[in-house]
Amino acid sequence: MIYPVQHHALNEKPNVAMTTPAGTPPAIKSFVRRAGRTTRGQARALADLGGQFLLPFQSKPLDLTAAYAETTGVAAQMGLQTANGDTAASPLVLEIGFGMGEATAQIAATMPGTRFLCCDVHPPGIGALLQRIDAQNLHNIRICAHDAVEVIDQMLPLQCLDGVHLFFPDPWHKKKHHKRRLIQPPFIARLTAHLKIGGYIHCATDHLPYAQQMLDVLGVEPALINTAAQSHPDLLGYAPRPSYRPQTKFEQRGIRLGHGVWDLVFQRTAEGRD
Ligand SMILES: C[S@@+](CC[C@H](N)C(=O)[O-])C[C@H]1O[C@@H](n2cnc3c(N)ncnc32)[C@H](O)[C@@H]1O
Repeated sequence: MIYPVQHHALNEKPNVAMTTPAGTPPAIKSFVRRAGRTTRGQARALADLGGQFLLPFQSKPLDLTAAYAETTGVAAQMGLQTANGDTAASPLVLEIGFGMGEATAQIAATMPGTRFLCCDVHPPGIGALLQRIDAQNLHNIRICAHDAVEVIDQMLPLQCLDGVHLFFPDPWHKKKHHKRRLIQPPFIARLTAHLKIGGYIHCATDHLPYAQQMLDVLGVEPALINTAAQSHPDLLGYAPRPSYRPQTKFEQRGIRLGHGVWDLVFQRTAEGRD
């Protein structure tokens, strides 16, 4: 499969002058800022809890220990901190595009000893996840309300992630929009470099052509291996849904209507380009 060259501005035609400096892969604009209505409850959650759980975007590496440090006490109880107050020892999972945060909160609740760094740009969804954090008394989530591609490139140290969750990313159905899909070789190479050895990338989609693209792209990244290839050869490269990923209402409805869902779980090997 051939992946189209990326461009910063979607309506611009490819041209040499637009290329980024040598070694810097061009950007993917994988989202549009939708004009969804923020409910009063979401707005209140943003105002009241934003200061505690939102991490501002910065163009320098994030101090991950400090980012989760306000949870002192609670964090220690939940296994997030070591005896000397260090949160850095607990696993760190990045979620790209959490939507309304339904699955995010459920997973974080069942894995209280894991830190979740969750990126999305949609204010109602960010408010909704903050409401869930409050309602479920979650201490292991931080939200970055910013483009995950820039967060990865600019805020995250190499080999800091134990896992990446990318659930139902926008499939960008039209061919002319395929360049906006996140799963493309240059981005996956950069994302993989931020995984620890043994860390995983877990993608799920209900769009078969995108599932096939995911399988192709992840399959040719030399530093990744497909965890399902040997354990489930009958699934042709796809993985059974890991038990930690709950089915959202949207997904359950799709399954009732006979639509498929494909999970892919790849793991970083010792090979790497960082
Ligand atoms: C189709 S929704 C899926 C949401 C959720 N994962 C689910 O399963 O319901 C995709 C989400 O990804 C977000 N998104 C897309 N590209 C993004 C990016 N580069 N950085 C952060 N969020 C992004 C969108 O704003 C949207 O909320």
